[in-house]
Amino acid sequence: MYKIAVCGCGVVGSGVCDALLDQHEKLSRRFNRKVALAYVLDIKDLTGTRYAPYKVSDLDTILNDRETEVVVITIGGLDLAADYCFRALRAGKHVVTSNKAVVAAYGPELEKLAFSKERRFMYEASVGGGIPIIRPLNICLFANDITEIQGILNGTTNYMLTGMFKRHASFDEMLARAQRKGYAEADPTADVDGFDAARKIAILSSIAYGGFVDYRNVPCRGIREVAFIDHELADKAGFAVKLIAGSRFEDGKVYISVEPKLVRRGHLLSDVNSVYNAILTKGSYTGDTLFYGQGAGKEATASAVVGDIIELLGAPKAFALPDFAVKNATVLPDDRPCRYYIRMKSLKQPAAGALIDIFGDDTLCLFSKLERDPWEEGDPSTVSAVITPPFTAAELEEHVRGLDALGARVRMTMKVLD
Ligand code: HSE
Repeated sequence: MYKIAVCGCGVVGSGVCDALLDQHEKLSRRFNRKVALAYVLDIKDLTGTRYAPYKVSDLDTILNDRETEVVVITIGGLDLAADYCFRALRAGKHVVTSNKAVVAAYGPELEKLAFSKERRFMYEASVGGGIPIIRPLNICLFANDITEIQGILNGTTNYMLTGMFKRHASFDEMLARAQRKGYAEADPTADVDGFDAARKIAILSSIAYGGFVDYRNVPCRGIREVAFIDHELADKAGFAVKLIAGSRFEDGKVYISVEPKLVRRGHLLSDVNSVYNAILTKGSYTGDTLFYGQGAGKEATASAVVGDIIELLGAPKAFALPDFAVKNATVLPDDRPCRYYIRMKSLKQPAAGALIDIFGDDTLCLFSKLERDPWEEGDPSTVSAVITPPFTAAELEEHVRGLDALGARVRMTMKVLD
């Protein structure tokens, strides 16, 4: 019998338990051996739930059971979850986790420990929820030099941005909805301020470019400043607003950022809506490859965890020490010249000609019929925006100074993903 232990019976953990219980016949048929949920570790009272018969309260009970080879860690937060991963690997168990905070902070140490113990540390569910992306990068695309990753990696913020636009809903209303659906982190600032996406792009970039990318070096800006009017104006010009986590590998360096961007309609990422995530990779052999699916939520994430368990049971000895476990990447902000969207506020609508004089002939001018953004406090004033020709950040700063003469104040700046 293959005995599986699940530590942490929250949103994802309970989904993993459900999948193991509901699919146990299918799983057992595949391995011609019983695959069974053996332990559920949680401090919560599980009385009356289907998990109650498996409940234990002490990790050592699991670690001391020689028949339990796989420990799933679906505890949130960092310290306790990391401690459990280290202890389980030291005790000679394979570890599967969905916890991206642990992978982003301790990935190299945990990989090294697993390798030294001839055990595996697996974390498909840590990025992209139900989307297979870690295994494809590690195995299916391994022959490639990956040069770029562009992703929508946070389900909560994508759900919020989509809802804000389609329902004309406020930021707070959409955040509450995302929390009710179990998409958001316990502390949703990790979602809305981009830290969750920063951890995920750091994990993917570490694997893809073969050097550890510390998530603390990822320049990160979330969606708090994105207003309904930005969606309206961007839509008018044929763009969607998305939180983009992207990185490029050029001359041995990783250029990386998480920030809201305008994405041209027709771009593969522009129609990724609601809780869906997508990851676009550029490989030297494959060219563009797109991975798409539900990026958060109980069932989708549980599916990825169970996928790791299946790989483990089939190939428990496929040990490999990834390059990022032994080498750090040089990480820099992505400062390539690009087009910018600039929303401004003024008492009088500026003339299109005056804006083109400031930013150049290829400037697109967008004017709103709204007197003001309905979600923004303050006096009525006109709202307009431009989409500029490509500039460096320094060039942009210089051009923006020209707005003073028009009495316009910049309220929001976003890069355009072309
Ligand atoms: N809070 C995360 C998200 C959950 O919204 O994407 C999945 O990592």
